[in-house]
Amino acid sequence: MTTRIIGTGSCLPKKVLTNTEMETIVETSDEWIKSRTGIEQRHMAIQETTTSLAVEAAKRALEDAKTQAEEIDLIIVGSVSTDRHFPSTACEVQSAIGAVNATAFDINAACSGFLFGLGIANAYFASGTFRKALIIGAEVLSKMMNWEDRSTCVLFGDGAGAAVVEKSEEGIISMTQGSDGAKGGVLSCCNRPVNNPFVTNDTALDYTSMNGQEVYKFAVRTVPEAISKVLGDAGVSPDEVKYFVLHQANIRIIEAVSKRLGQSMEKFPTNLQKCGNISAASVPILLDEVNKAGMLNKGDKIVLAGFGAGLTWGAALVTW
Ligand code: ACO
Repeated sequence: MTTRIIGTGSCLPKKVLTNTEMETIVETSDEWIKSRTGIEQRHMAIQETTTSLAVEAAKRALEDAKTQAEEIDLIIVGSVSTDRHFPSTACEVQSAIGAVNATAFDINAACSGFLFGLGIANAYFASGTFRKALIIGAEVLSKMMNWEDRSTCVLFGDGAGAAVVEKSEEGIISMTQGSDGAKGGVLSCCNRPVNNPFVTNDTALDYTSMNGQEVYKFAVRTVPEAISKVLGDAGVSPDEVKYFVLHQANIRIIEAVSKRLGQSMEKFPTNLQKCGNISAASVPILLDEVNKAGMLNKGDKIVLAGFGAGLTWGAALVTW
């Protein structure tokens, strides 16, 4: 018994913020952003919210999977930028799509959110609790940026991606997840501080802060290790993998992983050029693009991998 991906969907906000327009917001240049990261533009929520993007991505995934909302018995949303502390985005999606038979909750595993969600669904399926799930990554990261900090605001974007998965004989072959909370400080954003009749707190809202070089070192070490583990556990060589669908943080990270695995960059589809880094949504949005472009055939082996704040990481080897 395992978990099969049977449909994908995604949704990006209409507004596109190009690097050239970014030059009018902070002191930066198209050349700096492109050469350091590969990013050329990103989508920004104006009318959209984390929930509205998640709902639209979910509807598109259900359509692609030819599945009715009532058939879904589990909804997991990975997000670090939910609209509300409660109710969860997953419960809001459940209501909006009419998935009346689902149990719904959010998880925070940052950019690994989709991979962690897949792992939770897989465990639920194995235990016999549920059979068909919607796994969603949804973010409006633009609201969590300090728009005067050029070292972070140029990197991120908004959007949502979703997949319908079901209990099946074929699908996920092997997967791994991990965390290193001791290094959490390299990429963080504080919630509201303690505030009650006994504590006076007028701390200003916090925004995303990052030690880019530490995140870079973590990613280029951990991602190849995680991918090698899922391949090793399954006895599958990297040459047998058609595509490596990685979290879209930075083209230099992806190039380093491709080199470390001895695999050509042609096997690493990317969309960071037009989307930037959308944390938990990056992997499912890219997977949807690869799927909708007709690049996948039944039986193809692909690797999904995410990494990010926490620190967290996850990888899965999947038969399409
Ligand atoms: N435009 C112009 N100059 C800038 C910008 C910008 N947007 N941002 C920083 N700089 C300047 C800095 O001020 C610094 O100037 P100084 O030398 O005069 O002090 C100079 O550029 C170099 O800054 P660094 O931070 O050392 O730049 P670096 O080469 O490390 O690149 C980057 C920064 C792209 C973030 C890199 O560290 C990286 O790729 N890190 C990986 C982490 C990542 O991709 N994180 C994304 C989110 S994390 C995740 O999803 C897991």
